[in-house]
Amino acid sequence: MLRGFRNLADVDLAPGPRFNVLSGDNGQGKSNLLEAIYYLGALESFRLAAKDALIAHDAARALLAAKLAGGVAPRTAKIWLDRAAPRRLALDDKRPRTRADWLAATPMVLFHPGDLALASGPPSGRRALLDHVAARLAPEYARALADYETALKSRNRLLRQEHADRRSITSYDPLLAAHGAVLGLARAALVEELEPATREAFARIAGEELPLEVRYQPRVPPREDALRTALARSLDKDLARGFTAEGPHADDLALTVRERRARHHASQGQHRMIVLALKAAELTVLARRLGLVPILLLDDVSSELDPTRNARLMGLLDELGAQVFVTTTQPELIRVAHDRADYRVVAGRVEAQAP
Ligand SMILES: Nc1ncnc2c1ncn2[C@@H]1O[C@H](COP(=O)(O)OP(=O)(O)OP(=O)(O)O)[C@@H](O)[C@H]1O
Ligand SMILES: [Mg+2]
Repeated sequence: MLRGFRNLADVDLAPGPRFNVLSGDNGQGKSNLLEAIYYLGALESFRLAAKDALIAHDAARALLAAKLAGGVAPRTAKIWLDRAAPRRLALDDKRPRTRADWLAATPMVLFHPGDLALASGPPSGRRALLDHVAARLAPEYARALADYETALKSRNRLLRQEHADRRSITSYDPLLAAHGAVLGLARAALVEELEPATREAFARIAGEELPLEVRYQPRVPPREDALRTALARSLDKDLARGFTAEGPHADDLALTVRERRARHHASQGQHRMIVLALKAAELTVLARRLGLVPILLLDDVSSELDPTRNARLMGLLDELGAQVFVTTTQPELIRVAHDRADYRVVAGRVEAQAP
């Protein structure tokens, strides 16, 4: 149930357990609806919008509510957004103890057009994907990452000072090496898990003749001693450049198609297929490790894919077994015949279509 969210009129949706197809012309509110669903699971907007941007222009507050099935027992989630007050949350009518409690209630995997940068853009997006999944699997990871980033920021601040004291700078190295090794090892292990699922999903969509390779590519091997050595060795260069060069903050997830880097060589449609394969793998790994199949949200997934690859993508989605929400301007591209509920989004109104 949604009230006062973006351009959406009062929405009372009883979505189907499998495919939910949200179709409509440009600018009608499809992505807004997906954003609301994602916000209910992830407590953040995939457009990184601030609270006030989510509240309808002419409203003072918004309410998002959902019944969550799929876990041990059904739960209810409610979020109040108020222009004049901090956000309020309730899980089963109680304030959740931690953010992690909330996130655990409904894992979600999202694909939105901005995610194409995972294949076509710089390494930072790929690291963020690994960090996101690793943190979902282990709260210790999120802590190590936060501590690492704090130490890195402090070291970089000293590196930029005019008369930097070398000893104060290197005093951060043991911490960076220790946390850095934790991050690097966890990411490498995660990539081991994601790799077969990504490769398989990509082969399903793209066809067997175009193999995708997925590899974690650390700048420094993820071991404490190796990281300490690398930090010490690059101190002079770091001082000259004003930032720390070595460490997991500079690692990459290498994606190669026929031995060429996808970022610079793959086509637009291939970028899309690579990212979809990564997301399918994320879903598979989260489902296995959390024991709960995440909800899959796909914003404008089918454009740029030819009919054959679209049909293959739908076959793959069918097998993943998740509850899926897809937005599209062309519902005929979503060729799923069974377990399908269609909704039409027009000027912020969401209407169920007869099957
Ligand atoms: N806080 C808000 N209050 C009212 N309207 C808003 C708010 N935020 C965004 N909008 C409007 O919502 C409309 C629909 O946006 P949305 O991104 O959901 O469209 P869409 O159906 O996904 O279109 P497309 O097919 O182009 O992606 C936009 O016209 C935008 O101006
Ligand atoms: Mg949209």
